[in-house]
Amino acid sequence: MTSSSMNSDTIVVLGTGGTIAGRADRATDQVGYVAAQLAVADLLTGLGPVSPAGEPWCVETEQVAQLDSKDMSHAVWQDLATRVAQHVARPDVQGVVITHGTDTLEETAYFLHRVLAPAKPVVLTAAMRPATSLQADGPQNLADALSVVATAAQTGAQGVLVTMAGFIHSAWDIRKLHTHRLEAFSSGDAGPLGVMAQGSLRRFRPWETLDPKAQAVSRPYGLDLVQTPVHTWPKVAIVLSHAGLDDTLLRAQLQGWIDAGVRGVILAGTGNATLHHSIKAALEHVDPDRTRLARMLCSRCALGPILRADPDPAAQHLDLSPVQARIELMLRLMRASKVA
Ligand code: SIN
Repeated sequence: MTSSSMNSDTIVVLGTGGTIAGRADRATDQVGYVAAQLAVADLLTGLGPVSPAGEPWCVETEQVAQLDSKDMSHAVWQDLATRVAQHVARPDVQGVVITHGTDTLEETAYFLHRVLAPAKPVVLTAAMRPATSLQADGPQNLADALSVVATAAQTGAQGVLVTMAGFIHSAWDIRKLHTHRLEAFSSGDAGPLGVMAQGSLRRFRPWETLDPKAQAVSRPYGLDLVQTPVHTWPKVAIVLSHAGLDDTLLRAQLQGWIDAGVRGVILAGTGNATLHHSIKAALEHVDPDRTRLARMLCSRCALGPILRADPDPAAQHLDLSPVQARIELMLRLMRASKVA
């Protein structure tokens, strides 16, 4: 699959590494492999042409990064957002596919969607088994991602999406729930947006429901916001509520974070986002007038909305995972400091 910018039906595939590009010594090895070994162009070998309506499409590839996604960085997100925005703006490009590791896939998807909310499909895909596996899942996941883009004119697919194990998930709802099953991801109560079967897309709910729970946060932040040097991005840390939480330890940690320049904390509560009393006490101690640390509340439960009778305006909550909430608060702080 080669590139030609004259072709009006072009899909750009951006590689970032992950298990989908991983290699093991033995074809039976599903665990003892090294992620991020194969170039993105090599992942397309053997897939055959993308040709939903007969004419083969042009598929361009670009290696934006090559890493195990546990090591994903803000610098890579900045590059990725920039490259995605540039490609999406090209009239010949119908959409973008991103190959990624599964471990932080939901964070990258959320970041890209909140920054860009692209009108064309930007489809992240990954694999639970390395490319060298006898039963590698990457090729089918990648083929599905390409099909989502190639059929977008008919289906209206848009925004940042994820294809895994035949399902299409939204950047809002997707969560990695399992350490090694092929069906490691879920969209929880919302369910997937659709399924892919034999290159055909069956949609279960409208693409517009990408942002079902948060009209207030659906406006994209825009690429400009994240083009400042990454070392200036506001630091946001995550506090996990748990049994036996030590007040003194937490106070020292919060104070240390403030001293290190942390500007916000995600409070990942138990169940319906309730917090251990030590968290409240420690916050009261280090930040009594609530001016030092912006706060956002979420639940440590993987699934389910937060239902609160007594919302705390000083610790706003959204139905986000702690890692998504960290991104949301960071972007909010960036926008606030830009406006100020
Ligand atoms: C990674 O996230 O890069 C490694 C694990 C995976 O892709 O499943």
